[in-house]
Amino acid sequence: MRRKLAAGNWKMNGLVDDLAQIKALTDAHPAPDVDMLICAPATLIAQMAWARGPHPMQIGGQDCHAARSGAHTGDISAPMLRDAGASHVIVGHSERRADHGETDADVAAKATAANASGLIAVICIGETLAQREAGEALAVVTGQLRGSLPEGATAANTVVAYEPVWAIGTGKVPTTDQIAEIHGALRHALRDVMREAEAVRLLYGGSVKGANAAEIFAVADVDGALVGGASLTAEDFSPIVTALENA
Ligand code: 13P
Repeated sequence: MRRKLAAGNWKMNGLVDDLAQIKALTDAHPAPDVDMLICAPATLIAQMAWARGPHPMQIGGQDCHAARSGAHTGDISAPMLRDAGASHVIVGHSERRADHGETDADVAAKATAANASGLIAVICIGETLAQREAGEALAVVTGQLRGSLPEGATAANTVVAYEPVWAIGTGKVPTTDQIAEIHGALRHALRDVMREAEAVRLLYGGSVKGANAAEIFAVADVDGALVGGASLTAEDFSPIVTALENA
C-alpha cells in the first residue's frame, strides 16, 4: 500500500508571520491519516521545523544544487536543506525548468544529490498546453520521467508529481480521465525502469482546491497532490488533507 501524501509548495511566498498557518494546520490535523509535507522557501525551513514541533508534518525545500557545496552564489545544496530540517526537496518544477532552463539531466543530477543527502526527491514533470494540443502529452511526460529519475531511485527516496503546466495557477484542471491516462502511463513507465514501481507515490498537481480534491483523489494511481496556491493557508489546505484522508 502506498501511503498518501498531501504536499504543499509555497513557491516564493511566505514570511515569518505566515508560520501561524503551520500552527493552524497542525492543530487542525493533530494525527493525520496521510503524510503531510510543506515545501517552504529556504528562508523559512528552519523556523517551520520549529513551528511544527512534534507534529509528523514534513518539510521540504523547492530546489537544490547538484553539488554538495562550492562557489555557486545564491544556490542552496541538499545538505543545507537537510541541515535546516528538510526531509524532502522538489526538483524539476516546471517553473524552474522554464525560469532557469533546467533540463531532465539537471533534474536527475539534483535528485541524485538530494538522495545522497538523505532527502526524498519530489520529481516534477508535466506537459505544456501546446504539447497536449499536439497529442504529445503522454510522450512528453514519460520522456521527462525517464530522463529525470536518478539512478538509484527507490520508492523510499522518490516521489513523482505530474503537474500539467497549463493547469498550474490557472484554475484549469484536466479531466479525471486525462489524469488517469497519464498516471497509468507513468506507473507503466516506472515498471520498466525500477523494481519498486508499484510503491512509488504519484502526485497530481495543478489547481487542486478543496472543491475538486475528492474527485481527483478518486482517480486510480493518484496517491496525493502537490498543491501551490491552496497550500498557503490552513483554511485552504486543510480540506485537501481531509479529502485525501477520506479517499
Ligand atoms: P497551483 O496549485 O497554484 O496550481 O500550483 C501547483 C504547483 O505548481 C505545485 O507545485
